[in-house]
Amino acid sequence: MNTRKPPRRSNRVAAGQAPETQGVIQGDLARAVLEPGAYAKWDTLLDTFDHLRSTMPVVKVLPDTEGVFDPFWLVTGYDDVMRVSKDNQTFLNNPRTVVFSLTEGIEFAKALTGGSPHMVASLVTFDAPIHMKYRKLTQEWFMPKNLRSVEDEIRTLAQETVQRLVDAAGHNSGAVDFVPLVSAPYPLHVVMQIMGVPEEDEPRMLMLTQQMFGGQDEDLNQSGMANMTPEQITQLVAGAVADFEAYFAKLTAEKRAKPTGDVASIIANARIDGEPLNDRDMMGYYIILAAAGHDTTSASTAGAMLALAQDPEQFARVKADRSLLPGIVEEAIRWTSPVQHFMRTAAEDTRLGGQKIAKGDWLMINYVAANHDPAQFENPRKFDAARTPNRHLAFGAGAHQCLGLHLARLEMRILFEALLDRIETIELAGEPRRAKSTFVGGLKTLPLHITAS
Ligand code: HEM
Repeated sequence: MNTRKPPRRSNRVAAGQAPETQGVIQGDLARAVLEPGAYAKWDTLLDTFDHLRSTMPVVKVLPDTEGVFDPFWLVTGYDDVMRVSKDNQTFLNNPRTVVFSLTEGIEFAKALTGGSPHMVASLVTFDAPIHMKYRKLTQEWFMPKNLRSVEDEIRTLAQETVQRLVDAAGHNSGAVDFVPLVSAPYPLHVVMQIMGVPEEDEPRMLMLTQQMFGGQDEDLNQSGMANMTPEQITQLVAGAVADFEAYFAKLTAEKRAKPTGDVASIIANARIDGEPLNDRDMMGYYIILAAAGHDTTSASTAGAMLALAQDPEQFARVKADRSLLPGIVEEAIRWTSPVQHFMRTAAEDTRLGGQKIAKGDWLMINYVAANHDPAQFENPRKFDAARTPNRHLAFGAGAHQCLGLHLARLEMRILFEALLDRIETIELAGEPRRAKSTFVGGLKTLPLHITAS
């Protein structure tokens, strides 16, 4: 997946011209749903989605960028996002899964891979029938019953992480940034642990996944991608893939020689239709797990902590009654919706939200918008840990629904158990800031005053 800030062509919509006509948005309104910076201004973004959902729940977005990004249908209503997610025959993941799949980048990927539009082929880029064959390989491993086998390891990581937070709070008179200390490193440790990557290799893995999946926020992406051309980005990604392949070739050999119960052993020894996975597909599997498992859980973890910091009574209640924790975790995942969108391509002519969708049209299913649809969630901007039912779409739905959803819930619950054991009070120590990102997004800073028990 390649990323780049969309170049502006501010003269596209002449002054005074309405940015929305006949189910089409462009100019400022298109930028308000498409630019990474728009996703850093949460309330404004939610206002925009509310406006669109109530007037044009499925609307054509004409990006301001000729030939770089293609037009697409933006889907903002809960029911429509659910329908697209579940109808995997009509709405395909191939060929482009995220909105910043640059047209030129895809051509480049095809040239480098010998025809595939993806530098990395993985579960999110497969459709039926191959998708399910790949998914089934690890689906069982990610079920709650099996995850019990890694609970103790995750608890140890959680306790070590909370200890670091408590130590830092002691050194800084209680003022700490929760994101770099807790919510960013902890899910990365967990996902690396389940893949058998030693801790000293984590920074390298982080850099590689950033290069491949391109954090769009300049503070978070250390790979220097922000100002590169699509060709340069694709070259960088190709280098990262090669580096990743070399790293995991060694791991695969080890796991084949001596399989352990971890997920990397399952992938290394997997067979599809009787044949072992080829190197490229195996890498795709490792890469999607490494990339999908950390920023997402990190964002919902930071969101849960923000909600508790903003509501000391809720914090006191859950400290006294741990049975409230699963509700807090689930609501944090809805409230933050860390995966903000995925794209689908129509396999045939169809209708959605009163619009005619043609075969080949591109659609953005926006999880942030769907999870704030007042027709489904009463007072959707409120963090309500008692919300029942809470059938949010933050993990998607249908054949591609998040493979790691039980793991994400488990690791959040275990972390908050450790936090509640050790933390007496939390209070905001400054304004939290959100990352600029259209794809995976959330808080990049969360300054807190903390007192330990
Ligand atoms: C797919 C969200 C954590 C692995 C997805 C999708 C979403 C999502 C929205 C796409 C669903 C669709 O297309 O219908 C989240 C959120 C998380 C989280 C919000 C944390 C709060 C994780 C973790 C892992 C993981 C911890 C594993 C280590 C995957 C994989 C897929 C996926 C492998 C692709 C599944 C497929 O295409 O069949 N996730 N995810 N995710 N997620 Fe997660």
